[in-house]
Amino acid sequence: MSPKKNSSLDPIETASIDELRALQLERMRWSLTHAYTNVDHYRQSFDEAGVHPTDLHTLEDLARFPFTVKTDLREYYPFGMLAVPREQLVRIHASSGTTGKPIVVGYTQHDIDIWSEVMARSIRAAGGNPGDLCHISYGYGLFTGGLGAHYGAERLGCTVIPMSGGQTEKQVQLIADFKPRIIMVTPSYCLNIADEMDRQGIDSANCSLEIGIFGAEPWTNEMRATIEQRLGIDAVDIYGLSEVIGPGVAQECVETKDGPTIWEDHFYPEVVDPETGEVLPDGEDGELVFTSLTKQAFPIVRYRTRDLTRLLPGTARNMRRFNKITGRSDDMMIIRGVNVYPTQIEELILQTKGLAPHYQIERVKDGNMEGIVVHAELAEGAENSVAQQLGEQLTHSIKSYIGISSRVKVSNQGVIPRSQGKAQRIIDSR
Ligand code: DLL
Repeated sequence: MSPKKNSSLDPIETASIDELRALQLERMRWSLTHAYTNVDHYRQSFDEAGVHPTDLHTLEDLARFPFTVKTDLREYYPFGMLAVPREQLVRIHASSGTTGKPIVVGYTQHDIDIWSEVMARSIRAAGGNPGDLCHISYGYGLFTGGLGAHYGAERLGCTVIPMSGGQTEKQVQLIADFKPRIIMVTPSYCLNIADEMDRQGIDSANCSLEIGIFGAEPWTNEMRATIEQRLGIDAVDIYGLSEVIGPGVAQECVETKDGPTIWEDHFYPEVVDPETGEVLPDGEDGELVFTSLTKQAFPIVRYRTRDLTRLLPGTARNMRRFNKITGRSDDMMIIRGVNVYPTQIEELILQTKGLAPHYQIERVKDGNMEGIVVHAELAEGAENSVAQQLGEQLTHSIKSYIGISSRVKVSNQGVIPRSQGKAQRIIDSR
């Protein structure tokens, strides 16, 4: 499919690949120089690797520069990675992280403008238009989801409902009363909201919502189908991370729904071998790495996201896409030698008729071995008496499709803890 000619798109969205690559090279030179000149960490790490920003002659030369990892950022907590004086920041966000100190990121006014622009672009790519009512249930606060979505929706010209996460009953009431066309929320919390609609006797499939912009956690195409059917919407994938800017690094286009398009004019992607760090050709699976091209306050060079995917050619736009993220390397479980991600289990749960889309995976010790217990739940209307049979069915499909033995516990509705933001899929009882 050729990129759609649409005068409402940003000019770069319809630019040729050559134009895009030329712009990236110019911006990458600026960004590496900016990082090297103004951030001690980058100056030291480039010097140690024996590279200088002037060594960048082509985009491929980026591979000569050192990676940045989460622990680098933690070491400079809170403000040591900033490339501008703290007084020039207009905002700070932080990523929670499961252990240790959070990662603090900062934004100049120019950074906020760029972020709003890529978020507005994202909402438009999802099918949103100026004038649409946009209900935001991503959390507001240090998390980048709420405010990132908020500024982007305002920039596009939407009417924003800044609901934030939580207060699920009220979410449903506002959706029923205000009749938004767009909802921006994690897919797991969206399911929670849909359940609450059912509980309140609201016909969810005929609600006002037409577009859901879902991200902040891995989710499968099976989950997309479930949510689309329940709410009668188009469900599209939005990707981002605090270290790179927040949501809006990449957005799936509604006309193709074939993986997020990376806004490559601001964020340069690479996929590397997670073990060796070697850059892989487009199409090969590995770890996603990003370099910011335009950020002032917090430039980031070759950041190892730990998100696993592959780069794909552009379809709805010339910019490259990536395949829906299958998981994070941190979430990988090795069960008797087999690598397993929660999304693989999710796919199978959603293919099992009679099970709800809520689940958790408990990691346990089985003697000296590692094992998993999958906690699933009966779907609305499913009889209690089928729980055991559904459990056996799921155990069987996990064995045949993933190749591991597991225990499955199917409980009554409402037993699995519900997400109000990012779902916690793994519990560790080892
Ligand atoms: O989750 C930013 C965000 C907010 C993205 C709202 C989309 C929507 P962090 O809290 O820093 O930032 O977490 C970033 O979340 O490295 C991925 O592992 C995961 N993630 C984000 N979007 C997706 C997605 C926000 N669409 C981390 N699919 C990332 C899969 C995602 N994983």
